[in-house]
Amino acid sequence: MSVFIVGIVGSPRKGGLTSRLVKSALEGAREKDASVELVYLVDYDPKPWTPEHGTAPEELNELMRRADGYVVGSPVYYLDVNGLTKNFFDTVDLGDSNGKPALGIAVAGGTGKGLVLAVKTIYYYFFCKGLRGLEPIPVSRFNFDEALKDARRLGALLAEKASEKRPFRSLEERIAYFESLKYMDMTMLDEMMLLARQLFKTSPRSDNLEEARRSYAKATGLIEEGRRLEAVSYAVRAYELLYYR
Ligand SMILES: Cc1cc2nc3c(=O)[nH]c(=O)nc-3n(C[C@H](O)[C@H](O)[C@H](O)COP(=O)(O)O)c2cc1C
Repeated sequence: MSVFIVGIVGSPRKGGLTSRLVKSALEGAREKDASVELVYLVDYDPKPWTPEHGTAPEELNELMRRADGYVVGSPVYYLDVNGLTKNFFDTVDLGDSNGKPALGIAVAGGTGKGLVLAVKTIYYYFFCKGLRGLEPIPVSRFNFDEALKDARRLGALLAEKASEKRPFRSLEERIAYFESLKYMDMTMLDEMMLLARQLFKTSPRSDNLEEARRSYAKATGLIEEGRRLEAVSYAVRAYELLYYR
């Protein structure tokens, strides 16, 4: 029997970047013979949690309980997931989700800031629900094409993993699992450095390139020496030279 993967789009813009990435992940899953369903949260309009109103629409809960694995995509608003996605997290009933695999994608389509911080929020939710997060996908406009490919590859992996639920047996195991995931230890400084690396790859034809490289190298050295606060100005300089080139 084929596995069932649900892809969640947290952006209210159905034709936006989030939707394209979630669709790419579902295509990957379909290549592995998964049956898939795309869900636009805006169609279900989950409300904020209140004591009187504690659960998402039952149709959505039911779909989520049936799924063997999840793709969750959110746009980045003010360095975090948007309200629609958070309302979904706060109110959806996944049933017994411990050990199901999940893939999280966050898209910072403006300056890029928040791409990692927001994807961490998604993975903290996975942690709470015992979902086994695959490698997170932090996305900006600068790595978008590569991220589409990553989404497809990881969507295929998700379908493979969804055939067998692997429940966590202890809190220790769950914390260790999430501590080991890529990006989970990153702060704003690391995010600036990641964005600078993404911008270097977008082939800038710029007079600023050499200075940006020097600032980036200086920041790298300071970070290696544990002088993180001093590294901030060099990291920001590198980012801004490339962003406003
Ligand atoms: C309220 C609001 C806050 C935003 N904050 C950020 C931000 O912190 N960082 C960023 O890179 N983009 C930010 N954006 C831009 C969105 O991330 C961008 O439009 C993204 O493409 C939205 O995803 P979508 O295309 O799927 O709708 C913000 C947009 C809105 C509406």
